[in-house]
Amino acid sequence: MSDSRPRRTFAVISHPDAGKSTITEALALHARAINEAGAVHGKGDRKATVSDWMAMEKARGISITSAALQFEYDGHVVNLVDTPGHSDFSEDTYRVLSAVDSAVMLVDAGKGLEPQTLKLFRVCALRGIPVITVINKWDRPGLSPLELMDKIQEQIKIRPTPLTWPVGEAGDFRGVLDRRTGEFIKYTRTAGGATIAPERRMGADQVEGDDKDVWDNAVEEHELLDLDEANHDQTTFLSGETTPVMFASALQNFGVAQLLDLLVELAPGPSTTEGLDGAVREPGDEFSAFVFKVQSGMNTAHRDRLAYARIVSGEFDRGMVVTHGTTGRPFATKFAQTVFGRETTSVEHAYPGDIIGLVNANALRVGDTIYTGPKIAYPPVPSFAPEHFMTATAGDIGRYKQFRKGIEQLDQEGVVQVLRSDLRGDQSPVLAAVGPLQFEVVEDRMLHEFNSPIRLSRLDYQVARITDAEGALGLRGKRGCEVLQRTDGTYVALFTDQWRASATARDNPEILLEAMPAGGA
Ligand code: G4P
Repeated sequence: MSDSRPRRTFAVISHPDAGKSTITEALALHARAINEAGAVHGKGDRKATVSDWMAMEKARGISITSAALQFEYDGHVVNLVDTPGHSDFSEDTYRVLSAVDSAVMLVDAGKGLEPQTLKLFRVCALRGIPVITVINKWDRPGLSPLELMDKIQEQIKIRPTPLTWPVGEAGDFRGVLDRRTGEFIKYTRTAGGATIAPERRMGADQVEGDDKDVWDNAVEEHELLDLDEANHDQTTFLSGETTPVMFASALQNFGVAQLLDLLVELAPGPSTTEGLDGAVREPGDEFSAFVFKVQSGMNTAHRDRLAYARIVSGEFDRGMVVTHGTTGRPFATKFAQTVFGRETTSVEHAYPGDIIGLVNANALRVGDTIYTGPKIAYPPVPSFAPEHFMTATAGDIGRYKQFRKGIEQLDQEGVVQVLRSDLRGDQSPVLAAVGPLQFEVVEDRMLHEFNSPIRLSRLDYQVARITDAEGALGLRGKRGCEVLQRTDGTYVALFTDQWRASATARDNPEILLEAMPAGGA
């Protein structure tokens, strides 16, 4: 490979409002990918946004789409894959997590562990993704650090191993104690955190003035942690049993440089990846990648469609012809881009861990594998259990063609799951979502992108289970239940409520009724 710089591919995840956008800006600022905080996810009166491209997204101030930001840091290439902030798009977050090697979990020091924090920790555990935990907003009053550590241990069942420890309680952030060197890293404020905050490292004997008392307190607590053996261990971190913890203020740019240093030092790079049927690829093997996200409508003028793929093995050269696993057909990668928000750059070469955006890749679906050499197929990204269901019909019957095309496109992108049955016909498919905001995206995009207003009406179902062709027959005519099919052929049984789903399963043990991973908040 001609670019031997190691890769670090990670996502920042958190409960909404914990500071994900702020830390993304701060990370990019430190790595000098952009010059001033605010250029990534502009908020308030800071710079205009380059990441939020959908009008609706801007209006609501939420990040619906995912972008990948690549920058260089300390001889490494860092790929930061953005995730949506709202829990209604957790399925999207789940997909993004299939494309990263580690995750940075932000916890709001004032709020502690929130519902989405707990759920995302569980998803990472399920997928075997090592997590670095950042206690953010330490510049504001919050919980005591020892209390936060207890909560992580008790509620998440993962052992926190702090690498830094705050000097000064939440709201009075002087800096941190580097637990591995025993040094004091003292922070100095800058106006609004808009430029890189200066840090000064000093030995314990150099701590003076009004820092002395809070320093002594930090040392005491650090010793307590030592007694408790809450110290970093690389093996247990990689296996997901422990999580290194650090304290930061993304807004003040405190601790951000340390986070980058930790990512480079501790986070894993691309490694051996298992495909289906026992096939395996090492990063140095022939090219392979999988699509984890498909997106269109970023540029209404061009009606572009972008498939984001994570490279698993081998070198990608723009223009190379690869095999599309699902169809077995050759696929020419003439147009490949790195994408961050609206900024797109043509990519000539990319390596394991990198994210590429393949333009107008109409055949590619989420979960598809592309490769050269022997056949390989990476496991599909599982869907979350939908909990909200609507029938969709064309709002303007004269635009039925556009309606069909739009539904097909949104289905392929995974914006919602589209379910059909002979009974309902193709004119009114059922849309299934994890969170109701997904329907708003559908309405908005159908109207503006596909020029086909859509009429949605609520269906009285709450629970979905996977079944099979036999199950579909067995369930026919049963009360409070209906079986439909996803585009990939999977049979999905919908039930009016949990009780009915459980009762049906109990009374008909021969019928397959398999639960999907829970996605709702
Ligand atoms: P998100 O992407 O996880 O949803 O969070 P985001 O970065 O948008 O941050 C949510 C709010 O928390 C923002 O305030 C942001 O300024 C603030 N914030 C983020 N990190 C810190 C921190 O370290 N310290 C403090 N004190 N605040 C922090 P906002 O009022 O909602 O928006 P804004 O107009 O101030 O940007």
